[in-house]
Amino acid sequence: MAPPPSLKAISSFLLVLGFLSAMVALLYQYSLTRSPKPRLWTADELALYNGTDEGLPILLSILGSVFDVTKGKSHYGPGGGYHQFSGRDASRAFISGNFTGDGLTDSLQGLSSEQVNSVVNWRKFYTERYIFVGKLVGRYYDQEGNPTKYLKGVETKAKRGAQLLEKQKNEESKIPACNSRWSQSEGGKVWCDEGYPRLMRRPGDIALTGQISQRCVCMKEEELTKPGLEVYKGCDYLSTSCVV
Ligand code: HEM
Ligand SMILES: *[C@@H]1O[C@H](CO)[C@@H](O)[C@H](O)[C@H]1NC(C)=O
Ligand SMILES: *[C@@H]1O[C@H](CO)[C@@H](O)[C@H](O)[C@H]1NC(C)=O
Repeated sequence: MAPPPSLKAISSFLLVLGFLSAMVALLYQYSLTRSPKPRLWTADELALYNGTDEGLPILLSILGSVFDVTKGKSHYGPGGGYHQFSGRDASRAFISGNFTGDGLTDSLQGLSSEQVNSVVNWRKFYTERYIFVGKLVGRYYDQEGNPTKYLKGVETKAKRGAQLLEKQKNEESKIPACNSRWSQSEGGKVWCDEGYPRLMRRPGDIALTGQISQRCVCMKEEELTKPGLEVYKGCDYLSTSCVV
C-alpha cells in the first residue's frame, strides 16, 4: 500500500486546483462579456443584452446596426439615463427623446428629412465610439442581413435632410444674425448693430412635423416689408434692441 499523501502535498494540490478553477472561471467570464463577433441578431436575442445581467455585454441597435456599448455602462446600464436604449432598437427615441412606451420604437414614420438625418448621425456616433457587433433582423435588415427597402428609404431621406441643412446654412450666412445675450437679471435680449431685429422662419418639412423654427435676423429699413418677417412682441417697429 502506498503511504498516505502528506498534508503538504494535499494543500499544494488544492492550491493548484483552486488556481486552475479560478482561471477557468475567469476565462468563462471573459468569453461571456467580451464583444461578440459581428453576426445577425433577432430582437429576442438582443433583448437579453439589456444590461441587467452583469455577465453579459450591453448591446443596442440603431437603424438595425448593433453595437456593444458596455464601455458606456454608466449611460446604458441599469440606472443610466439611456438604459432604455439597451437590448433593443429604439431609433426613434434618438430624435423624439421619448424613452417610454410607444416612444421606444424603431419606426421613423412621419419624421422630417432633417430628423432622419440626425438619427443617421447618431449611428455614425456609435460607429466611431463603440464596437459594431452585427445587424438586427427586422425593419432595417432582412434574414440574409441585406438592407431592406425601409433602410434604403431612410438613407435617401437622410441625404436629402443633410442637403437641406447645408442649403439652409448657406442661405443663413447671407443674412446677418442678431446679437443676443441672456442674463439672470435682465432676461434675454437681441439687438442689431446695423438694421432691425426680426424673426424669420426657417424653411423645412414643417407640414410633416409641425415644428416651426425661427431665428433672429438684422434687416435694413428698406427690407422690412419683405414677407415672412415678424416684429418681436412688445418691440417697436424701428427699435434696434428687443427683450425676449
Ligand atoms: C432627444 C434627446 C436626447 C437624446 C436622444 C440623448 C442621447 C444621449 C446619449 C445616447 C448619450 C450617451 C452618449 C455616449 O454613449 O457617450 C448622451 C449623453 C449625454 N447627454 Fe443626452 N440625449 C438627449 C437629451 C439630453 C439633454 C436634454 C441633456 C441635458 C440637459 C443631455 C445631456 C447629456 C450629457 C451631459 C451626456 C454625457 C454624459 C457623460 O458623458 O457622462 N442629453 N445623450
Ligand atoms: C433583460 O435581460 C435579462 C437577461 O439578460 C432578461 O431576463 C430580461 O427579460 C430582459 N428584459 C427585457 C425587458 O427584455
Ligand atoms: C411618449 O410616447 C407615448 C406613446 O406615443 C405617449 O403616450 C407619451 O405621452 C409620450 N411621452 C412624452 C414625454 O412625450
